[in-house]
Amino acid sequence: MRRVLICGSNGLLGQRLSFHLSSNTAYEVLNTSRERSFVFDDRLFDYTQLDITQKGDVKSLVSSFQPSVIINAAAATNVDWCETHREEAWNVNVVGVENLVEASRKVGAKLIHVSTDYVFDGKSGPYAEDAQPNPISYYGKAKLAGENATRTGGIPHAIVRTIVLYGTGIQVKNNFALWVIRSLRSGQRIRCVDDQISNPTHVSDLAQAILKIFELDRIGLYHVCGRETVSRYDFAFQAAGIFGLDSSLIDRTKSSELAQPAPRPMVTGFVTLKAETELGLKLMNVKEGLTLLKSELHDQRTS
Ligand SMILES: NC(=O)c1ccc[n+]([C@@H]2O[C@H](COP(=O)([O-])OP(=O)(O)OC[C@H]3O[C@@H](n4cnc5c(N)ncnc54)[C@H](OP(=O)(O)O)[C@@H]3O)[C@@H](O)[C@H]2O)c1
Repeated sequence: MRRVLICGSNGLLGQRLSFHLSSNTAYEVLNTSRERSFVFDDRLFDYTQLDITQKGDVKSLVSSFQPSVIINAAAATNVDWCETHREEAWNVNVVGVENLVEASRKVGAKLIHVSTDYVFDGKSGPYAEDAQPNPISYYGKAKLAGENATRTGGIPHAIVRTIVLYGTGIQVKNNFALWVIRSLRSGQRIRCVDDQISNPTHVSDLAQAILKIFELDRIGLYHVCGRETVSRYDFAFQAAGIFGLDSSLIDRTKSSELAQPAPRPMVTGFVTLKAETELGLKLMNVKEGLTLLKSELHDQRTS
C-alpha cells in the first residue's frame, strides 16, 4: 500500500487532496498541518499536527511514518504579508521545503511540491515550463528558492506551478473569487485591476493534476492553470454575472492605484500543453470554474 504524507492539509488545496486521497482505501494517508486540529473529522481521516519549519519534528514524523510520497500543500500564500514578513515567509516557503527534502531523502520518498506564476516577472506570459523565472516579489523569490531546494535535493520530485487559486472548503482563507462574491453579496463596492492578467485556477483542477502526478508516478515540472486568460476585473465581472450579483459595484482600476506592498507580475498565464497531454487534464475556463464554485458554495450552505 502506498503511504502518503500531506503537509498543509487544512489549506484550500490541502483539503481537496486530503479528502480525495484519504477516501481511497488503496492508500495509507497521514494528513498534517500547522494547527492542532483538522478541518475534517479526525476519527475518519488520520491527522497529526506538523509545522514544516520544525526540522526535528519533520524528521521524526517522516522516519516513523515512512511515506513513499510527500505532498507539500503548506505555504505562506499571502503575497503582501510575505513582502513585509520576510523572515517568516522564508522560513515556511524555503526552510520548510528544505526540511521536507532532507526528510524525503532519508526515507527514499518522492516530493510533490506546489509553486506559483509569481516566479515570473510578468513581462512575457503565457509561460511554458522551460521559461526563465525572474521573480519580482519576495513571495516569488522565496517560492523559487523552494523550487530550487526541491530540484537540487537529490530526490525524485514533481513541481506543479499554478495561478490565482480559488475555490471553497472548510474555513478556508479568503481567495480572490470568494472576496469578490462576499463583497458584492453584502453590497460593498470593490476595486479590481484590469492590468493584472492571468489564468485563475479552480482548486479542483490543481488537485486533479496533483492526483494524476501521484497516480501515474510522474516527475518534473508542470504548469497547471485555468483555460482562460483574464484580468482580475474581467474575472470579477464574470463572477457577478454567474452569481447574480450587482456588477455595477465593481470599479475598474490600475495596479498603480492600489499601492499593494508587493509588486505583481502583470501578464502571466501558462502554456498547459504538457499537463494536459501527460496527465490527461481537461482544465476549466472561468465560466466552468465559477459555476462549479457556485454549486459547491450552495452545497456547503445546505449541508
Ligand atoms: N492561493 C493562490 O492564489 C496561489 C497561487 C499560486 C500558487 N499557490 C500555491 O499553491 C499552494 C497551495 O495554496 P493554498 O491557496 O491552498 O494555500 P492556503 O489555503 O493558504 O493553505 C496553506 C496551508 O498551509 C498551512 N501552513 C502554513 N505554514 C505552515 C507550516 N509552517 N507548517 C505546516 N502548515 C503550514 C496553512 O496554515 P495557516 O492557515 O495556519 O497558515 C494553510 O493551512 C501553495 O504552495 C501556494 O504557494 C497559491
